[in-house]
Amino acid sequence: MLWLLFISLVSTLFALCGAAPKVTQISNSLLDSNGIFFVSFDGVVNVNSFQLSGVLTFGNYQFVGWYTSSRAAILARRQLPSGSWSTFQLPHNLSTNDSHNVIALGVSPSDGKIHVALDCHSTQVFYTSSEAGLATSGASWEASRFGTITTTIGNLNVGTVVTYPQFVITPDNLLQFVYRSGISGNGATQLAEYNGGTWSNVGSWASGSGTYTSTNGVQSTARNLYIHGFTYRSGSLQVTGTWREQNSAVMCNSGGLTNHDTVFISSADKGRTWKNSAGSNVGTSGSSPVNVNTAGLIVDSLNADHGLMNQESQDIDSAGQLHAIISYVPGRFGQCVTNYVTDRTNNGRAFHLYRSSNGTWTKVEIPFPLNAVGRSQIVMDSADNIYVVMPFVRIVTASKSSGWTDWTMAFNGTSAGLNAFGEVTVDRARISQGVLSILYQLSSTGTTPSAVHVIDFQLNG
Ligand SMILES: *[C@@H]1O[C@H](CO)[C@@H](O)[C@H](O)[C@H]1NC(C)=O
Ligand SMILES: *[C@@H]1O[C@H](CO)[C@@H](O)[C@H](O)[C@H]1NC(C)=O
Ligand SMILES: *[C@@H]1O[C@H](CO)[C@@H](O)[C@H](O)[C@H]1NC(C)=O
Ligand SMILES: *[C@@H]1O[C@H](CO)[C@@H](O)[C@H](O)[C@H]1NC(C)=O
Repeated sequence: MLWLLFISLVSTLFALCGAAPKVTQISNSLLDSNGIFFVSFDGVVNVNSFQLSGVLTFGNYQFVGWYTSSRAAILARRQLPSGSWSTFQLPHNLSTNDSHNVIALGVSPSDGKIHVALDCHSTQVFYTSSEAGLATSGASWEASRFGTITTTIGNLNVGTVVTYPQFVITPDNLLQFVYRSGISGNGATQLAEYNGGTWSNVGSWASGSGTYTSTNGVQSTARNLYIHGFTYRSGSLQVTGTWREQNSAVMCNSGGLTNHDTVFISSADKGRTWKNSAGSNVGTSGSSPVNVNTAGLIVDSLNADHGLMNQESQDIDSAGQLHAIISYVPGRFGQCVTNYVTDRTNNGRAFHLYRSSNGTWTKVEIPFPLNAVGRSQIVMDSADNIYVVMPFVRIVTASKSSGWTDWTMAFNGTSAGLNAFGEVTVDRARISQGVLSILYQLSSTGTTPSAVHVIDFQLNG
């Protein structure tokens, strides 16, 4: 009896002091036992960290896009929280075995259309959108409710060198389309906007121009900005990212990654003009994009010798503070990555990097090794607790009340036997409903298809 009392007292105290949040698995559904599988650029095409969105909630419905083993693009829908999945094939097949060529889903709130952009890597993009209202109507789920596949985004010509299509809803319910034009190491980030009828171009907001001089004195004259997200909260748009240099001689060894530094910009006018972390005006989309020589963009400096990952993830808390995950091989393991795959797998660490409202940046190492080359996904609940989905669906959490220091592994996908391929993608829109939905695909070998799943967790439940 006394022992029980003691234990309950201790656990009550622990809860009052704010233990790291828990997650409770509520379901795990099989979407496809034969998802297409091949590894390219260290990833699989159905589950990439940069997908916005591979799995997407809008209102009472959740939507998922993936490629099945016949290469057909599949769209699925279920009514939340636990309706059964309906699927159909879009009239489009994955064109090449390239893990960049993901499916991105978006919804335009003003007319309830579902937008789909897919299958591009420095090529033309493929796009379609649904009839109005399909996002919420619950009408029968079939391909005939979508328009023909085009290589424009509706009426907007986005050129023929497109990568990383992403859809984002603004605070006033417009739908934006973010993408890269140009190529890795020589590209620009671009923004377009849909007003419920037509798409218009906002323009490039980060260009590949300027000169970077590396630690070893080598100059590089072209690059692209890889973004960790394009996130709105309380009216403000915030972006973190890394520069990817074109000249590989900026590295100490050609086996690394030319990514360097973490940069931050924000916009109070939906991506027209940009400020740095100190609040100075630094760019205007279209006419004067930021570049590597723009003053005051770097918030965490790191040279190109540490296997810094691009396109990891970010979120914003209720106070408007940006939280990013970045990952690299810390200096205590050496100052020169010579094989980013093995070095990241053996010694890579993820860091929580966040901006306090006063503009100060704090970086804390997450005390669980990556054990993988791939990226981690950060989401925050309504109480500003953090959940980081590390490769293999390992969910590590930290409470706001601890100042995000009490990192705990709340779910270990490895010991749970999920057998997930490392990287996953998450449903950011569903977090506000208190549920973390994760799209993952099973590990496989060669080109043997494997199962595609959505697993759901109650946050802090
Ligand atoms: C997709 O590939 C299948 C064969 O697997 C073929 O029958 C179908 O016509 C292709 N669809 C398109 C849109 O090319
Ligand atoms: C900024 O805010 C953080 C977090 O509240 C605090 O630790 C830090 O001391 C502040 N810095 C300045 C310069 O006020
Ligand atoms: C997760 O599970 C794996 C496999 O059981 C184990 O090796 C690893 O130590 C676990 N991680 C943690 C942090 O418990
Ligand atoms: C692409 O992947 C498919 C399996 O989905 C495989 O059959 C095919 O051989 C691969 N093509 C190449 C060029 O590797």
